[in-house]
Amino acid sequence: MEAILLVGGKGTRLLPLTIDTPKPMVKLAGVRFIAHQIAYARSHGISRIVVATSYKTEQFLEYLGDGSAFGVEIVHAIEGEPLGTGGAIANAATYLISGERDPITVLNGDVLTAHDISAQIRQHVSMNCHATLHLVEVDDARAYGSVPTDDKGQIIGFVEKSENPPTNFINAGCYIFTKSVIDQIPRGRVVSVERETFPELLATGGKLWSFKSRDYWIDIGTPAALLKASQDLLTGVFISPAFTPQPKKIYIDPLAEVDSSALIEEGSAIGRAQVRSGARIEASIIGDEVVIEAGAQILHSIIGNRVKVGSGAIIERAIIGGDEIVLPPNSRHIGTALGIG
Ligand code: GDD
Ligand code: MG
Repeated sequence: MEAILLVGGKGTRLLPLTIDTPKPMVKLAGVRFIAHQIAYARSHGISRIVVATSYKTEQFLEYLGDGSAFGVEIVHAIEGEPLGTGGAIANAATYLISGERDPITVLNGDVLTAHDISAQIRQHVSMNCHATLHLVEVDDARAYGSVPTDDKGQIIGFVEKSENPPTNFINAGCYIFTKSVIDQIPRGRVVSVERETFPELLATGGKLWSFKSRDYWIDIGTPAALLKASQDLLTGVFISPAFTPQPKKIYIDPLAEVDSSALIEEGSAIGRAQVRSGARIEASIIGDEVVIEAGAQILHSIIGNRVKVGSGAIIERAIIGGDEIVLPPNSRHIGTALGIG
């Protein structure tokens, strides 16, 4: 079975972390986010994935290659200029080899989900729909696509990011399309699947059905959500086929150098970093080539690759990244986004 993975977004809400690392390439519990997604898709029988890239394409090419290291076949669909979610799907579809009646799974590249995609695909096929959308219920739908349904589960509207969402059931970023429906999306121009394709399908009598679930689901697109997803992986709240939680509920890269007097507390993931004496790290993500000097404290924060943290510095609820960032000794960075922009 084939899937399209949308990974071309710029990840602006995760700046400055995404200056050098696209969102799907950020490591969660030591594993790049996209590898969690591929392992999940593979566990549901997806064997060929077209990866739709635009921002920092070369990193995806190099890391994923032909997919053999991940047990799937990977094809890269590269957009010169970002084509939007719908344009990216249309472009990626030219690389599919499925028949026109076959179901194609489309996944947003920033969603960690435990829902049963196999069941979603079965429902789509048995009901012979144009598209079947995974929906989850959230407390506040304003930042998402709000998707009302009728009593039977048929989708009756699609309202992307509005101040007054009609329902708290939202588009969870996993669609099953019948291939011939994707083939109708215009090619070679910017198209939003949320603002254009779904509303048009509804207006022309398309059969769009919901697949609602209450399983674990998170979009890692904001610093708070990224940290939460990382902690949920480390503590076993979310089980990824690409990661085994450790008894201490932390992850330390085998090549990291952590002083024995440094304190790494639950929910922290440390990349290939150096952590010196007396430093304390709590519920944070630390990238590669990072140096954390003696006595520094990093709490509920995300530290990107190559950042240097001076001795005694305190970093709390901050996101720090971009190249050559050096935080002076004893400096304080609380609730800030700091980096080269
Ligand atoms: N290839 C490609 N080209 N991919 C893109 C492009 C593009 O031009 N624009 C966005 N993407 C990818 C992003 O990389 C991401 O994986 C996915 O499409 C969704 O984009 P986001 O920027 O993360 O959108 P969002 O989180 O604000 O909203 C979307 O996801 C919500 C659920 O998390 C929408 O689909 C909402 O309707 C939905 O509720
Ligand atoms: Mg998103």
